[in-house]
Amino acid sequence: MKFHLVTHGCQMNAHETEILAGLLEEAAWEPAAGPEDADLIVLVTCAVRDSAERRARGKLGELKRWKQARPGRLLAVGGCVPQQPEVADSLAEDFPHVDVVFGPANLARLPVLLEEARRGGRAVEILAAPADTPDSLPVRRGEGVRAWVTIMHGCDHFCAYCIVPYVRGRERSRPPAAILAELEQLAGQGFREAVLLGQNVNNYGRDGDDIDFGELLERADGITGLARIRFTTSHPANFAARFLAVMARATRVCEHLHLPVQSGSDRILAAMRRGYTQSGYLELLARARRALPGVSITTDIIVGFPGETDGDFAQTLQLVEEARFDAAFTFLYSDRRGTLAASLEGKLPLAVRKERLAQLNDVQNRIGLEINRSLVGQRREILVEGSSAKNPHRLAGRTRTNKLVTFSADRQAGDLVTVKITGAHTWTLEGLAEE
Ligand code: 5AD
Ligand code: SF4
Repeated sequence: MKFHLVTHGCQMNAHETEILAGLLEEAAWEPAAGPEDADLIVLVTCAVRDSAERRARGKLGELKRWKQARPGRLLAVGGCVPQQPEVADSLAEDFPHVDVVFGPANLARLPVLLEEARRGGRAVEILAAPADTPDSLPVRRGEGVRAWVTIMHGCDHFCAYCIVPYVRGRERSRPPAAILAELEQLAGQGFREAVLLGQNVNNYGRDGDDIDFGELLERADGITGLARIRFTTSHPANFAARFLAVMARATRVCEHLHLPVQSGSDRILAAMRRGYTQSGYLELLARARRALPGVSITTDIIVGFPGETDGDFAQTLQLVEEARFDAAFTFLYSDRRGTLAASLEGKLPLAVRKERLAQLNDVQNRIGLEINRSLVGQRREILVEGSSAKNPHRLAGRTRTNKLVTFSADRQAGDLVTVKITGAHTWTLEGLAEE
């Protein structure tokens, strides 16, 4: 019996999909070449915005034909969409062709639930948002130079717009020994780069009496088999000065921070419950740039939070001008059931939100291009990832600051190459290999 996995959403979902693959292989399932070849499709969904949830529902609708094309096929849906209160039942009702509904809280149960579904009927099992997560799940990683490693689960911040704390539960840190052993193992398997994952990595270790995030980074940096270490996501409210000091000392930890700012207006930041002001955020960027010369800074921004005025939005544009982000992921505010923001007054029409998003993107794209152009003529160390998606005759890799560069060279994935930057676009760079 063969399985095919489809993932929507964040790197955490992508990594959990690798765990599902590991669990299925342990239960004697084999990977299929594609959906047509598969007896089982598992859809891992994202619920962070309504558009993601609609995409999941659209995909489930589409898979009805796949399911009916061959008797005995199984369709399972997991991830964050069914983990929302009452949504699992509504999914089961709306999509009678779905056999298994599960969530991040019980992902390890998928093989058992599939067995139940195969014996007849369907299996809908959603446990309360996870309080505990087993630490010894098998992982079937994809090929490549980069590996994701979960360092903590859940989030305790309860930002007003965000569904994550509801579907992912409270913060739970993995034991440092388990993380470091996994990193060593990845190095041994030939992975060159590890990305430490958590909704809010700053809080690593706060739920126990082990080490904190700075210490974890420092120890991870000592793993000689790896070339690079990254982490995501950091929270601007409590990104300790010590973390910057560790990064400055480190050799493998890369000079890139993803620091979601969400808004430039202090009033909106307070309503979002973010725990910092525009000036506090800009001071953190200044400190980061002093500690880590050449650091790249990326962010997430939401436009059209309830009650956001033209004046608030102007503050966001002004912040973007001052912060000079290397890149920003920008989103239309989306109401999520059960969050604080969903019950606020002052919801903005879609047209207003779209207009603001377009303005914001114009400003950020100009800045991103200016920053990239300023790199032309400079040399950077590139970790080769493989051939370029756009042009298979060229290689693609990243700078330590996480910028994608394409170039020609007789090198292979995993190699470190010095490249001179020769061209700049908004999102990518071009280069010439020097060795
Ligand atoms: N609406 C729009 N964007 C959201 N995000 C999280 N929740 C929402 C929402 N309700 C964005 C934030 C976060 C990113 C992962 O998704 O910017 O940092
Ligand atoms: Fe959501 Fe805020 Fe937690 Fe990030 S820090 S996952 S935005 S609640």
